[in-house]
Amino acid sequence: MEVIIQPTEDAASLLVARLIARELRGHPQLVLGLATGRTMERVYDHLSAMHQDEGLDFSLCTTFNLDEYIGLAPDDPQSYRFYMNHHLFGRVNIDPRNTHLPDGLAKDIKAECARYEDLIRDCGGVDLQLLGIGRSGHIGFNEPLSALRSRTRDKALTPETIAQNAPMFGGDPTRVPRRAITMGVGTILDSGRCLVLATGPAKADIVARAVEGPITSSITASALQLHERCTVIVDEAAAAQLKGTDYYRWIFANEPEWEEFRP
Ligand code: GLP
Repeated sequence: MEVIIQPTEDAASLLVARLIARELRGHPQLVLGLATGRTMERVYDHLSAMHQDEGLDFSLCTTFNLDEYIGLAPDDPQSYRFYMNHHLFGRVNIDPRNTHLPDGLAKDIKAECARYEDLIRDCGGVDLQLLGIGRSGHIGFNEPLSALRSRTRDKALTPETIAQNAPMFGGDPTRVPRRAITMGVGTILDSGRCLVLATGPAKADIVARAVEGPITSSITASALQLHERCTVIVDEAAAAQLKGTDYYRWIFANEPEWEEFRP
């Protein structure tokens, strides 16, 4: 795992977008794992701008989202399918047939989870997985005590997650679905590279625990310590409780991989 600290939320989001763009340019048939949440909106704004201004080409790219609420239709403004169409898919030249999210309306949820896993495998696996982190420490909707080898399945949301996501439901926690389909921690760990973005002071505590604390199913983001290629990108506010910041800053300032991204 490596941690890259950027001065602001916008700089952190731009770096994530530039890393995705570099992968896509080098490998136009990229299988890209995508995430939702407020943190990702700026990343998608930057990617859309790169498509408009620099011709960043998504036409051969395939995407798999981490999760979807159970019970919400794709045209429900609170569904993650709607979020993705609005923030990214409708703004770039991606083929909608190559964009995948779990079907939150599936009659047979177990079969839908198995179908999603099979589809990821049939596409050759996720090359690059984008991830946010919930305040419960979740990645996707892998809530505390999710098995660290779990695959795509349905999961009950914690009250903390329901409260965290209530602002997207008009501030009313009773409108937030109680369950979701999510890629498992094991599914995520199978991806070729993980890029985690966390910004703002509300994430500082959970970032420090996930990155520098012990690996535990109580904080599923901590399982990313097992991944061979996981980069955590944070702004100063989200880095505030990390202990190893001198080393992390040294990496960004000195490692050749980051040269093209330094100001
Ligand atoms: C939801 C998603 C997560 C995301 C989290 C963070 O719970 N299922 O994948 O990481 O939101 O959201 P935000 O970026 O709004 O803090």
